[in-house]
Amino acid sequence: MFKAEVYKSRREALQTKVRSGIALFLGNVDSPMNYPANTFHFRQDSNFLYFFGIDLQGVAGVFDFDEGRDIIFGDDIELDDIIWMGTQPSMKDNAAKAGIEDVRPMTELAGYLKKALSSGREFHFLPLYRGETKIQFELLTGIKIAEQKNKASLELIKAVISLRNIKDEYEITELEKAAAIGHQMHVASMKMAHPGEYERNIAGIIEGIALSHGTMVSFPVILSQNGETLHNHDHSQILQEGRMLLTDAGAETVTHYASDFTRTVPVGGKFSLRQKNIYQIVLDANNKAIEALKPGVTYQSIHLLAARVIASGLKDLNIMKGDVDEAVRQGAHAMFFPHGLGHMMGMDVHDMEGLGEDNVGYDEEIKRSKQFGTAYLRLGRKLEPGFVLTTEPGIYFIPALVNLWKKEGKFSDFINYSEAEKYLGFGGIRLEDDILITETGSRFIGERIPITINEIEETMKR
Ligand code: GLY
Ligand code: MN
Repeated sequence: MFKAEVYKSRREALQTKVRSGIALFLGNVDSPMNYPANTFHFRQDSNFLYFFGIDLQGVAGVFDFDEGRDIIFGDDIELDDIIWMGTQPSMKDNAAKAGIEDVRPMTELAGYLKKALSSGREFHFLPLYRGETKIQFELLTGIKIAEQKNKASLELIKAVISLRNIKDEYEITELEKAAAIGHQMHVASMKMAHPGEYERNIAGIIEGIALSHGTMVSFPVILSQNGETLHNHDHSQILQEGRMLLTDAGAETVTHYASDFTRTVPVGGKFSLRQKNIYQIVLDANNKAIEALKPGVTYQSIHLLAARVIASGLKDLNIMKGDVDEAVRQGAHAMFFPHGLGHMMGMDVHDMEGLGEDNVGYDEEIKRSKQFGTAYLRLGRKLEPGFVLTTEPGIYFIPALVNLWKKEGKFSDFINYSEAEKYLGFGGIRLEDDILITETGSRFIGERIPITINEIEETMKR
């Protein structure tokens, strides 16, 4: 946990942003894996952690905006639990670490809410995403699961996003720690990426690195020599000479701040000319995007800049053709780059995605594109100092997409299908860095993981 003052000042800031009423932040509860006592590894809710810091299951926090009061509802563990878990700090001690003195038993929460709701006070809550919590919420408030999404408070959602969007010095230190673990994971993956190695062996080792830091991965490891499948969780193949291994992975710190990096390397450690050519375009797109990041520019414009670098590079290789700006305007590049350039990152690897992608990444000024490819961009809005985000351009040769668009004759002014088809089986390349927006531009979070062709080949040398 951070110092109590950090949580207090976050709660004070929230008090200034929500006019009146009460807000309920339900922490997560243990979730059974295959029978009640055998639970998934516990992960606290990030919004609860942000304001209350208590990393334990079965705790709730309440804000009373009218009285300026914060309350923790939670129980001390009982003798039975002490026998299995050892002695634990009291809930009063836990709450004190977050600067809260008002601690009440969980059994009082339903009554407290009933009184507040029946007296007609405004009731704020954030969208819920776990089955257990949705059920608990319905039992506590009477708000049916089917109605919860629509009844979530937009005022609270926007207030929370406006705070969590801007990372303070404590959070940036944590993000740097997460990046250092991610760095180790990726260098380990590169060093193992030689012919004959099982993907699952590498995936297991790098997840183990996250665990060995007392933490966990920030999302399930994506690792495959079929990198053209964007989120490939199948790790069953044996690495082969001539293929490329895409690894998209990161870790969480003990306080649950994330890293999220992608590197793609030639199996065996030496790029072929063809691999070099495609790789360098993705690297150029990433570098040019990062160079252009600064407060006041929209991330949507950076996404389109990366798309133009990709289209231009593919045109140099005769895979695309025609006017580059027009190709990108019409969306032809999305055959090779069918996803967004990046997303916000913080305590959630896709930060605050549970509060609604458009609430986090878009605003009145910048609306989400409806065009295939750019429509998947999670972040479009103007950048501000303190934002932490990823840049992750890629080039993929997805047989189903190439074949379908060719059949439909789509973008035949911009795509040389006969050339593109020569790359079927090539796989995909994605390169992803984590970036902090500063007052004047941007900087990497953590030391950059080897990324140039030389750096990769040097790192992989045996
Ligand atoms: N690294 C996984 C993602 O950004 O979706
Ligand atoms: Mn990412």
